[in-house]
Amino acid sequence: MNHFQPRRGQLHAERIPLAALARDHGTPLYVYSTATLTRHWKVLGASLRGLDALVCYAVKANSNLAVLATFARLGAGFDIVSGGELFRVLKAGGRPGQVVFSGVGKRDDELAFALDAGVGTINVESAGELARLSAVARRLKVRAPIALRVNPDVDPKTHPYIATGLRESKFGVPVAEARRLYHQAVRDPHLDVRGVACHIGSQITSLRPFIDAVGRVRALATDLARAGIRLRHLDVGGGLGVTYHHEAPPSPAAYGAAITKALAGWDGEVHLEPGRVLVGNAGILLTRVLQLKKSGRKTFVVVDAAMNDLVRPAFYDAWHDIEPVVTPAKGARAVTCDVVGPVCESGDFLARNRKLVLPAEGDLLCVRTAGAYGFTMASNYNSRPRAAEVLVDGDRALLARERETYTDLIRGEALPPPARKPFRRRRG
Ligand code: LLP
Repeated sequence: MNHFQPRRGQLHAERIPLAALARDHGTPLYVYSTATLTRHWKVLGASLRGLDALVCYAVKANSNLAVLATFARLGAGFDIVSGGELFRVLKAGGRPGQVVFSGVGKRDDELAFALDAGVGTINVESAGELARLSAVARRLKVRAPIALRVNPDVDPKTHPYIATGLRESKFGVPVAEARRLYHQAVRDPHLDVRGVACHIGSQITSLRPFIDAVGRVRALATDLARAGIRLRHLDVGGGLGVTYHHEAPPSPAAYGAAITKALAGWDGEVHLEPGRVLVGNAGILLTRVLQLKKSGRKTFVVVDAAMNDLVRPAFYDAWHDIEPVVTPAKGARAVTCDVVGPVCESGDFLARNRKLVLPAEGDLLCVRTAGAYGFTMASNYNSRPRAAEVLVDGDRALLARERETYTDLIRGEALPPPARKPFRRRRG
């Protein structure tokens, strides 16, 4: 359920016509819906009612300050993977004690920043990182609150680039090694062992992998308790999928029920790190048709959004629904076309072999489910300024991020000093 729906023949973001947003802010434009963000937050929260749960929104999915502030006001914790994400969370009013710092490679300065800010948990992903974190904590004269991220070796059955919980993936530590590291960590005066974490992948569309992973992590926690190591929380990660095309992921209610069941008897806290399910279809990318083009038997719709704005189709061959902003006349004939951007790569497409009512030059198209891993994966490739972002709330629109300018593009760059005069040898 989302709040980008047609009214009187025009797609709206809540109560604002998308065409009005394009007129006021230009294209390409990311548009987010506060009502949708809030609804997703509440639905997920309701599904976890039986648990002592802390939901830490995964910032990487959409890190716009206005989005983060919306979640912070709803009481969210945050899952971060870099110092930059921590900086954003703090700016947006997130509570540091409800932040979990994940990630397979954290620099010492990032660890120090996190300890200094007082984050709730640092999810440690290797023996080396555990030793480094201990040293940083000793230097700062604090105890680092930690969980170990274990790799439960479960196949999440998703795109290989976003599967993280398999033995051969770079993430987490194998269960046997985790057991050894827990025994080491509890004896370390600079570490405060709080919990255990896992995250097996993203865009997961069935419950089984979650149930298996939680079962394995839970078994480890039970073993550790027998050995006298009591953990306060169990972090089940994120990963619940959304519908881009024909997927039918479990509802948040079914997901919550499955997690609750898998954790029956666990009396500690449960942490979650959802990203996509909260923001995915709370955002769209609005783009304008620049050109129609025929090449052989192919029809290309060239639009002003490109792979630098939304890389998912190019990177994962991902599907995003594309709809005209103005509802086409009944019975209008659809044709098969490629929707492509202006970037100089054949991989620069938003859709391939897609059936669309052929738009005209200047028409607006709405690329759906772009709220997660859309803007956050954007780049300046081809020296294209990054798009603006707007957060709609009812009939109000906040320009949540200005469109970048050409000056922004070269910020911090330097020209080499003027060429020195060549040395001339005197004669005689
Ligand atoms: N926790 C950790 C440790 C993660 O690595 C991730 C995502 C999440 C939570 C949130 O997962 P979610 O609930 O959003 O599935 N760029 C890719 C997705 C990469 C996901 C990376 N990790 C895409 O566009 O599909």
